[in-house]
Amino acid sequence: MADRPTGRGAERVAVPSQRAAGGRTAIGAAARRPCTVVVCRGCCCGVARKHPGFDHAWQLERLRAAASDGGFEVRTTDCLGPCDRANVVVVQPSADGRRAGGRATWVGFAMDDDCTQEILAWAAAGGPGLAAPPATLELQFISPPRGGRVRRR
Ligand code: FES
Repeated sequence: MADRPTGRGAERVAVPSQRAAGGRTAIGAAARRPCTVVVCRGCCCGVARKHPGFDHAWQLERLRAAASDGGFEVRTTDCLGPCDRANVVVVQPSADGRRAGGRATWVGFAMDDDCTQEILAWAAAGGPGLAAPPATLELQFISPPRGGRVRRR
């Protein structure tokens, strides 16, 4: 726990903190951040015109429904960059997973039922750093674009 003043003359308030990877300290909500599945819904991902035959809305609903029971979060984002590998999903580690060495993992061509099921099962098991990914899901791991960052909304 670290003390952090909340204003002039204010009492010191105990804020949970834990050591994060790279020597940085995670404070408050960041110290408790759950595994987060970031689903790209930009110009190509989730677009029936580019990938007909998949129920993209259902995929997002399924992930969101599983998140409430599985203890992970689901967010959407604008285009992440590698549109030629749409649908792109990034599985971000929880705070504990990051401390254990887990890093954001990019999954490409994430459209069918099996892939969606594997992503949600991995996230529910703890995600990067805490649980091994399904072997078949590993085949869909892609490298993030240079300088790629996940913006969530
Ligand atoms: S729209 Fe998803 S990577 Fe471009």
